[in-house]
Amino acid sequence: MDTRVDEIAERIYRLSTFLPGVGPSGLTFNQFLVDAEEPLLFHCGQRALYPAVSRAAARIMDLRRLRWVAFSHIEADECGALGEWLAVAPQATAAHGAIGCAIWLNDQAPRPPRALADGEVVDLGGRRVRRLDTPHVPHCWDAGLLYEETTGTLFTSDLFTHAGDPPAVTQGDLVGPAVAAEQAFHFTGVTPATGATIRRLAALRPRALAVMHGSSFAGDGGAVLGSLADFYDDLLRKGTPSI
Ligand SMILES: [Fe+2]
Ligand SMILES: [Fe+2]
Repeated sequence: MDTRVDEIAERIYRLSTFLPGVGPSGLTFNQFLVDAEEPLLFHCGQRALYPAVSRAAARIMDLRRLRWVAFSHIEADECGALGEWLAVAPQATAAHGAIGCAIWLNDQAPRPPRALADGEVVDLGGRRVRRLDTPHVPHCWDAGLLYEETTGTLFTSDLFTHAGDPPAVTQGDLVGPAVAAEQAFHFTGVTPATGATIRRLAALRPRALAVMHGSSFAGDGGAVLGSLADFYDDLLRKGTPSI
């Protein structure tokens, strides 16, 4: 198993592991390392991926420097290896939304987590991340995203998931492959709030989208988020297909 490293925005690194056996054409599992005075990892990866992902991360920095470990929601690919990361980085703190801390981290994390309020900014020293609560988007009650204000990078978690092993960064069509994956996997819990939640993200006008499964995106992030919101509104109007 090999984890590739690409710098997708200045000092923001994508750690990507392709698992060919997931779904009909394989799927990438991507973590993002924000290099700053207080480095932050977004997504932990599954525990089985930890040896490869941590080896890749160690090519960028001494892992003992890590100060923050954050993720979108409670699932194995988002936070399965949380314990391993906190063990290798004794100064690191898990940071998550208030709901996620209440329903899981306060009980299960090896050390007390930091509960971030909706809209709260953490100054990493050279980079600033804003927590955005996005309950049930893409899925799970505790879901939230981070927006790095200095580079204009939105960490989208499972939003824009697309299959295969595409390039690290694309400036091309992100919505088409994401719609195809949604229609194949039905991973988003579509509610009347889905479109509005995604439009709130679009209003940030991100210049880069750090996508958990598939290519990251460089360009007009507001436009592609708006298109994705339109797709989910349409899906809700027509009725989601039975699974
Ligand atoms: Fe997920
Ligand atoms: Fe995921």
